[in-house]
Amino acid sequence: MSRRPLVRDVTAVASISASALLVACATSAPETTASASSGPASAPTFYADVLPVLQENCQVCHTEEGLNLGGMVAPMAFTSYSETARHAARIARAVESRRMPPWHAADQHLGQFSNERVLDAADAATIIAWARGGAPEGDPSDAPPPRVFASSETGWSIGEPDLIVKLPSPYFVHDSIEDQYVDFVVTIPEDQLPTDRWVKSVEFRPGSSAVHHIIASPLGGIAPGVGPRVYPDGLGTVLRKGTTVTFNMHYHKEPGAGTAVWDQSEAAIVFYEPGEVIEHVVEGNDLGMFRFKIPPNDPDYSFTSEYTFEKEAEIVWLTPHMHLRGKSALYEITYPDGQLDTLLHVPEYDFNWQHTYTFDEPMHVPAGTTIDLTLWWDNSAGNPYNPNPNREVGWGRPTTDEMGYGFMSFIEVEPRRFVVGEPIPENLRRGNER
Ligand code: HEC
Repeated sequence: MSRRPLVRDVTAVASISASALLVACATSAPETTASASSGPASAPTFYADVLPVLQENCQVCHTEEGLNLGGMVAPMAFTSYSETARHAARIARAVESRRMPPWHAADQHLGQFSNERVLDAADAATIIAWARGGAPEGDPSDAPPPRVFASSETGWSIGEPDLIVKLPSPYFVHDSIEDQYVDFVVTIPEDQLPTDRWVKSVEFRPGSSAVHHIIASPLGGIAPGVGPRVYPDGLGTVLRKGTTVTFNMHYHKEPGAGTAVWDQSEAAIVFYEPGEVIEHVVEGNDLGMFRFKIPPNDPDYSFTSEYTFEKEAEIVWLTPHMHLRGKSALYEITYPDGQLDTLLHVPEYDFNWQHTYTFDEPMHVPAGTTIDLTLWWDNSAGNPYNPNPNREVGWGRPTTDEMGYGFMSFIEVEPRRFVVGEPIPENLRRGNER
């Protein structure tokens, strides 16, 4: 019954043609790329060749004030020569193994998702050649101007928040703690959210360095490795007054005397402004799996679920979600005429990087289209994240139990017209809240 993922191996960087790849934000490649592959004699330099690549592909996370992705904060800044050069060997390894930049869709999807993070082959070769060539500094006058990242005066990249939801009180993470999972339940008080409102964006901020991740439903879209969620103009979900938010916190740090910290993590929400118009309510289905039982020591257990569209729609993004035993994920699409296609394949799912895969062009699906989700788990001792291979594991909220979801957000094709500020109908299909 267990099915193998379609693509098990990630193609080596060197075998990918640069032109076939899209970089998240394309700018001109370093001038000296050609010399990068021609050996240490002409090793690229930091200022002329490497810094532009780091600015474009790494600094969004690896800066002093790096992007905070649901608690995943990059450990070092790649802005100065000295710090970057100190980590040159690790950088080369991370790039060569494709651990960095973090992105887990199979290569068949290159160019399909607007938020993909992939280093093109020439840029990867530049970094590796630089590190192998002794990480030369070069001439500071070759450096590009520093890249400046958007962030409001409040430090929130989504701008001034309208509502902040935070842990009910500061939580003490003791000296002895290495890993701890704690859940907090917060009901948004009526004075802070007196009416239902249309959500434009959501961003999380960990309250301490011990935060490894935050998953907070239904504010969702923010999980380890997921940046702020910003809905495209005209698309939104509703946050109902009186909503109860559950924060699943994972604290992780070196244990030991003096390592304790206080944490009060928070989520910021920006709402649409009165008068703005919502044309598409973001709806969703979680393709949830609840009856799976993963046997002890099973390295490749799978389970499936499906969803059939009653009306035509456009799929906007996908977010597979499992816990520590999650191994791989596959969304397949079957059109009404029987044609079968792969919608998303994540061959090596990583709990720490729960990406939202946002389609560059929303995927149109006619009525009668079926989505089949298959998830795989590794409950063996060979899975380094597995907290206990000798236990049967089913659905459960703690990270040490499992979940199996394939969150899928979609919109109706025909635009509607909700004027922000007017009462929001109760009978909207419940919005997708991740
Ligand atoms: C989306 C945010 C993000 C981007 C983009 C990103 N990183 Fe990282 N990086 C992280 C986080 C978070 C960690 C720490 C957690 C981990 O290791 O997974 C990390 C860890 C690392 C490490 C140390 C881990 C190791 O394997 O030794 C290196 C080296 C690294 N990144 C290099 C890079 C390089 C080079 C780039 C650009 C080509 C890059 N990263 C892009 C977020 C990012």
